[in-house]
Formats: sequence, structure tokens, C-alpha cells
Amino acid sequence: MKILVTGGAGYIGSHTVLLLLENGYEVVVVDNLSNSSYESLKRVMEITGKTVDFYECDINDYDKLDEIFSIHDINSVIHFAGLKAVGESVSIPLKYYENNLTGTFTLLEVMIKHNVKKIVFSSSATVYGDPHKVPITEDMPNSATNPYGRTKLFLEQILSDVYVSDKEFSVSLLRYFNPIGAHESGRIGENPKGIPNNLMPYITQVASGKLQQLSVFGNDYNTHDGTGVRDYIHVMDLSMGHLKAIEYIQDKTGVFVHNLGTGTGYSVLDLVKAFEEANGIKVPYQIVARRPGDIAACYADPGKAKAELGWQAEKNIVDMCRDAWNWQKQNPNGYEA
Ligand code: NAD
Ligand code: UFG
Repeated sequence: MKILVTGGAGYIGSHTVLLLLENGYEVVVVDNLSNSSYESLKRVMEITGKTVDFYECDINDYDKLDEIFSIHDINSVIHFAGLKAVGESVSIPLKYYENNLTGTFTLLEVMIKHNVKKIVFSSSATVYGDPHKVPITEDMPNSATNPYGRTKLFLEQILSDVYVSDKEFSVSLLRYFNPIGAHESGRIGENPKGIPNNLMPYITQVASGKLQQLSVFGNDYNTHDGTGVRDYIHVMDLSMGHLKAIEYIQDKTGVFVHNLGTGTGYSVLDLVKAFEEANGIKVPYQIVARRPGDIAACYADPGKAKAELGWQAEKNIVDMCRDAWNWQKQNPNGYEA
């Protein structure tokens, strides 16, 4: 069975492509490499001994996508391609709407033309806004506080409208919590450009001496130690969730929403401590002001994914910290030589 993966050269995409290949799927990747490198896929092919059909292509390019769908007999699409930096989305909202929204419209038009009606979409826990309670269940209200979050919210609704218009569609909306870590080989991992925005890549770059110290954004939240609490999930577990979602939608039509998280919340200081203990390295930090837009606590109730997809996270915080560091140590400059 052939799966088309948009954004497959990126962080979560490359790990998912690896698992798809290992599980006998044929994979076609479409990525414009705006936030990634072909090197990730070269390494995926090295690890698995299998081949990926790669197209350097923007999902806004109708003609090229049309050609790719004509060449390959695609069964389903996993749609990762998108811009994802919250702060940047506030500065350049139109770029985010153009890339994430119109890119998805084009992809959907080509899918419909070629009668491909199964899609797994990368949504985010950001669609829960500032949740009124944790753990978060899928039926809780949605909201967004920035253009990035709005692209996820709009696309969830647009994909649902597509299903309403054509009941042969099968749409899986996966709401990710906070993916961290890397493949255990240390050959593929997260490759942020410039100074990282997210916590784990910042920690690994402090640990390696590239950055001096971590700034902890606020210690006066209503959490057990005052720092922000999140549901960190190993990227390999998250990737496995996509394989389960692909299996799930094969014999169904409809719109299916699932949280992909572990169900456990760790604070910023919990993660720093876990990283230090797992790897025997100190991570110097200072407490600074809160980051605007951050919420106190966000973690999943993953029960629906377990009941319906037969999926649950297997790896723990030590695995996440060890694998994140293994990747950073082996690739101090990411995929750049
Ligand atoms: P990433 O930036 O590593 O991967 C996204 C990939 O999409 C990149 O390879 C990029 O080059 C490609 N891309 C972007 N725009 C494109 C376009 N117009 N045409 C073709 N390719 C394009 O990010 P990631 O962390 O792997 O995230 C994958 C998806 O998951 C994104 O949609 C993101 O919003 C979503 N998500 C990520 C997180 C997270 O914390 N990493 C959390 C929730 C949801
Ligand atoms: N943090 C710090 N210092 C840093 C970076 C982060 O203290 O240098 C803190 C934040 O304040 C927060 C926690 O670490 O409490 C996690 O922050 P991240 O930036 O790693 O992750 P977020 O939860 O803010 O956001 C991530 C993705 C979003 C996505 C969201 C929900 O970046 O795109 O998870 O899935 F929407």
C-alpha cells in the first residue's frame, strides 16, 4: 500500500516515514525542504535499507502534485507539511495562512481529482487554547490565540466540511502534544534552524555548550513547582500513532479526532532534572519572566486513542531525554556536515 507523506523530510515526518517503511508500506514524500533537509530521508533509507520516492515540491504547486498522483497509485495521505513557529506566525500571518491553508486546499483538490479520500492530518493540542481543565479530552472546547493555532483550527473544520460534502472521505485529526526525542540510532532527529524556540532542543544545546544557559519562562504558574507543565511524548511513539491512524481509517469513512499524548504532565524543571539524571550532564538555568501566550498546564487524556486506535505511548521521560541527547551529541550541527 502506497502512502503519500507531505512534509516527510521534517522532524515528525522523517520518523514516521521510517516506521512506514519498516512496516511494509511504500512511501512517496513531497516536501519543499523549507524547514528540512533531504539528508534526513537519506538516513531513513540507510537505516531501513528501503527506498523512498522523494519529490522536492511545494504543496501549493497543483501541476506537480497532479503529476505525482498520476505516477503513483496513492492509497492515503499523511499531511505534515506546514509552518509551525508560533511567534513567527504572529509576525507573518499571511505567509502562514498561504502556506498552511491554501497548500492544504491544493492538496485536497488534487486528492479529490485522483479519488484519494483518506487523510491523516497533523493537528495540535494548541486547538484547546487555554484548557479549563486537565487532562484534556477530545470533546473539550477549541480556540486559538495566534495565526499558527488558527491554521490548525481552520484546517480541522475545513477537513470536516470536505467530509460533509463527500461522505466517502475518511479524515483522521491527530492532536499532538509535545513531541521530543529522536530515533534510538541518533541518525535522525529534530533540526531547528537558529536558536530553538522549544524546550528540549534548547536544553540539548545548553548541554552541548552551544548555548550558555536555559531561560525558564516563569515559576509562578499554578503548577506543582510553578513552571509550565506539558505532555512530552517520544517522537517514535507519536509516529506509531500515525500508523495506527492509517490502519484505522482504511475501512471507515468519517472524521476521527484523537489526542496523541502520554497522559502525564512534566514541568520545565522536571524535564531539566530528568535530562540531567538520564545523561549525567548539568543544565544551567535561570528563571525569567513568563513567555507571552504560554499556558500553565497542558496534558492529554489519551484514553480515546487507546480505545479506538489501539495505541498508547510506550516510552518514558528517560528514553526521551536519552534519545534527544544521543541525537544532539552525534549531530552537533544537525544535518549540516
Ligand atoms: P517540520 O518543520 O520539521 O516539518 C514540516 C515539513 O513540512 C518540513 O520538512 C518543511 O520543509 C515542509 N513544508 C512546509 N511547508 C511546505 C509546503 N508548502 N510544501 C511542502 N513542504 C512543506 O515540523 P514537525 O515538527 O515535523 O511538524 C510536522 C507537523 O506537525 C506540522 O504540521 C506541525 O504544525 C505539526 N505539529 C508539530 C508539533 C511539534 O511540536 N513539533 C506539535 C503539534 C503539531
Ligand atoms: N520553555 C522554557 N524555556 C524555553 C522554552 C520553553 O521555559 O527556552 C517552557 C515554556 O514556557 C513551556 C514549556 O517550556 O512551559 C514547553 O514549551 P515549548 O515551546 O517546548 O512548547 P509549547 O507547549 O509552548 O508549544 C508546543 C509547540 C506548539 C504546539 C504546542 C501544543 O511548539 O506548536 O506545543 O502542541 F502548538
